[in-house]
Formats: sequence, C-alpha cells, structure tokens
Amino acid sequence: MGLVSSAMTALENEPAAPATHEPLVVLDHVDKWFGQLHVLQDINLTIGKGEVVVVIGPSGSGKSTLCRAINRLETIGSGSISLDGQPLPDEGKALAQLRAEVGMVFQSFNLFAHKTILENVTLGPIKVRRQSKSEAESRARQLLDRVGVGVQADKYPAQLSGGQQQRVAIARALAMEPKVMLFDEPTSALDPEMIKEVLDVMVDLAKQGMTMVVVTHEMGFARTAADRVVFMADGQIVEENTPEEFFSNPQSDRAKDFLGKILKH
Ligand SMILES: Nc1ncnc2c1ncn2[C@@H]1O[C@H](COP(=O)(O)OP(=O)(O)OP(=O)(O)O)[C@@H](O)[C@H]1O
Ligand SMILES: [Mg+2]
Repeated sequence: MGLVSSAMTALENEPAAPATHEPLVVLDHVDKWFGQLHVLQDINLTIGKGEVVVVIGPSGSGKSTLCRAINRLETIGSGSISLDGQPLPDEGKALAQLRAEVGMVFQSFNLFAHKTILENVTLGPIKVRRQSKSEAESRARQLLDRVGVGVQADKYPAQLSGGQQQRVAIARALAMEPKVMLFDEPTSALDPEMIKEVLDVMVDLAKQGMTMVVVTHEMGFARTAADRVVFMADGQIVEENTPEEFFSNPQSDRAKDFLGKILKH
C-alpha cells in the first residue's frame, strides 16, 4: 500500500473516487487584473472529481494567481468560481470552511515555526473542524506516519529537511479532509534528492482519487499522474490536452517554445 493511500482511506472511509467527470471546481469566464496587468484572461476551466490537472507555463503567466483564486487568497475581477456547485464565499465562517475544503501546498512550506510538527497538523482540525485535541492528534499522527515523518511529530519545523517539511505541509492540508488539493510548485525549493520523496506522496494521493491541481515543471509527474495538462501563457489557457498528446504533439508555438526550453534542461 502506498504512503498516503491508507491515510486517504482513514480520511474518507470510502473507495477511491474514479476519475469521473462530475465537475468539482468550475471557473467560468474568470478575469483578474493587477492594476493594468490583465493577469487572468477569460479563464474557463472545469476540474472533475478525482481529476489531476497539471498547470504549466512560463514565469508570470498567471499559474499561481489561478491557484490562489481557487481558494480565494485572491479575489477575481469578473466571472465566477464554484466548488462542488457552490460559489466561493466572500468572507467569514464560510470562507474559513472553503479554505479547509481546498488544501493548498506552496513552494515555501509555510509551517508555523514556533509550533511542533504535530501542532502544525492539528491546529486547523481543532480550530476549523472543531475536532477534539485527542481526535485531531490521533489523526495527525496517522497522516504523519503515512507521509513518512511520524517520528518527527514532536520536533519543530527547522529541525526537519525541506522534503520532510513539505510532506508535513501535505499532511496538514489532508488533515482538513479537503475536496481538492492545490500544489503550487511544491518541489521547486527542494534539493534534488528530496524532490522524489515529495512527488511519491503526491503520486499516491493522485492514485487514491484525490482531485488535484498541480503547478509544476516536473514533467515526470505530469506524465505519470496527470489526467490533463493545462498550458498557460500571458494570463490565458493556450492549450490543454492529455500529457501524452501535449508533450509529444504540442499545438501552439508558445507551447512548443516552452517545451523546447524546459526539456533541454
Ligand atoms: N500581488 C500582485 N500585485 C501585482 N502584480 C502581481 C501580484 N501577484 C502577481 N502579480 C503579477 O501577475 C503576473 C502573474 O503572476 P503569477 O505569480 O500568477 O505567475 P506564475 O505563472 O505563477 O509565475 P512563476 O512561474 O514565476 O511562479 C506576473 O506578472 C506577476 O508579476
Ligand atoms: Mg507561480
């Protein structure tokens, strides 16, 4: 059994969702400006339950902004975003609930430095999910075990390697029982030997049917785990396709140019 698979079973108590096309996250004519910069331009994107979507594109194309808009760390100018049929809430309790339902893992691990690993994982479930401390702790320990850092539970983030911290960040998001997980370049701050341990956890999560949006330049991950690759440039979705088609037969000049550059490395 994979690292995260049993964690998912423990979380969901239901079989892994097949990659159905029932919509979970729907972006409809989404536009966003930063001042004069039209950073998201008429984005239409539907992410199905259980689907794994890899988003790639040049620096500044709007990938992070897209992720941040999905859990409302950024507001949008026009259009709409819905999660499981409900428009994203504006504020208050409903917004806190949304943030729990949309797990997010960033390039920088963003763990609380003055809290232990265990406390980092239990904080959300206690505050937002209203779990008891003992319940939250036992679930957190299970999740930490399953991402391979159970023995680190009582340490502080600075005492862990980058790869270990990132796996804690994943466990922390999973502890909220999210409907979808967003990953924004989760491995790009890691040393090469740590990248694989994080990608392995993500691949397991994908296999278990988690709905995932992953911004990454890890083409191996895209090929193994993605159902679909979305290529962005200049705030637009320029092209989307299965990984096989996208990598072997990119359609647009922008995508060809981008792949030419990254595949050379
Ligand atoms: N808070 C902000 N205020 C103003 N401009 C911003 C802000 N955040 C991002 N931008 C600009 O919006 C554009 C898209 O940024 P974004 O971070 O979404 O790109 P990205 O595709 O994630 O790039 P990278 O691959 O470098 O992470 C960039 O031109 C960026 O400078
Ligand atoms: Mg980014």
